[in-house]
Amino acid sequence: MKISKTQFINDIKVGDTVDSFFIISEKQVKKKKNGEDYCTVLLQDREGMLEGVIWTEVFLKTGSFLEGDLVETKGVVREYKGKKQIVINMIKKIEKDGCENLSDFIKTTDKNIDNMFEEMLGFIDSVENSYLKKLLNNFIEDKDFVKGYRSSTAAVRYHHAYQGGLLEHTLNVVKICSMLAGIYDNLNRDLLIAGAMLHDIGKIKEYSSGITLKATNSGRLLGHIAIGYGWVREKIGQIGGFPEDLSDRLLHIILSHHGYYEFGSPRRPKILEAFVVYHADHLDGDIGGFNAILENTSDDSEWSDYARNFDRRVFVKKLNSREESNNKKAGKNIKGHIKEKDSSEEDSGQAGLF
Ligand SMILES: [Fe+2]
Ligand SMILES: [Fe+2]
Repeated sequence: MKISKTQFINDIKVGDTVDSFFIISEKQVKKKKNGEDYCTVLLQDREGMLEGVIWTEVFLKTGSFLEGDLVETKGVVREYKGKKQIVINMIKKIEKDGCENLSDFIKTTDKNIDNMFEEMLGFIDSVENSYLKKLLNNFIEDKDFVKGYRSSTAAVRYHHAYQGGLLEHTLNVVKICSMLAGIYDNLNRDLLIAGAMLHDIGKIKEYSSGITLKATNSGRLLGHIAIGYGWVREKIGQIGGFPEDLSDRLLHIILSHHGYYEFGSPRRPKILEAFVVYHADHLDGDIGGFNAILENTSDDSEWSDYARNFDRRVFVKKLNSREESNNKKAGKNIKGHIKEKDSSEEDSGQAGLF
């Protein structure tokens, strides 16, 4: 069966009838109070995810399908717990051979991967410490590493959760760190750049890079901090004479980059470069998370749905561009004004978490 996809997740609104193709990202068979089976699914296309429910009477007539399968789906979209949910009245597995373009179903960075990778090589070139430069170059000469570094996701959900997301996120963290090294002259730029580049490499093995984004068994059992620590330690061991103090500091950055024990960090930052990588990482995670919310919120909404990563709804209404240009004409600094207001607002009590 030849398929061509025309209806994508971002265009689908509450009340719409859906007749389209998706990948099953998650499937859970559940029981009602009366013991009858029903099923919830997470449908995926290149634009994101859509929750779905298949009630008992439809589910009993539905043939088998599994996570990762391509399905034809029909249903109607309702609002459920503040989110869009499709109530499915027909779902059928389709052979992937009939699909001309699987990229319709796989979310990928909208940045150019070759350009991002070139930029990253430029940062390696700028490292002056010979041991750190050798270490970074050894990673780049490892073909399997490069393949994963270029294509991995940075997460299954919340921020940079798409193919190429790890490279995009890591490059952002490297750029933020490089900029901060230009402001604070007591930072060791080489250590900072190396720590930023390597802080999340464990994610290459933590997530599988198939059609759906999934944690691997190693990822579930070890987590990306432990995997990354082991990988960097192994590569350091291959470089004769690598100074122990430098090795400890670099490994410390990896072990402490989540900042706090409750966020899965086995160490808390104890050198300045580790504080900086932690903050740069968290900042880019928040910006990526906010952008993902913007993408999944319709243009006419003022507030997002409840966002678990921020434990709040966020204000997504666009600043009125006419007001903006009037203010510019009147010589007001709009960005400065917004920043001042933000810092005095109710959520400042959360600051300790970030
Ligand atoms: Fe991380
Ligand atoms: Fe990160």
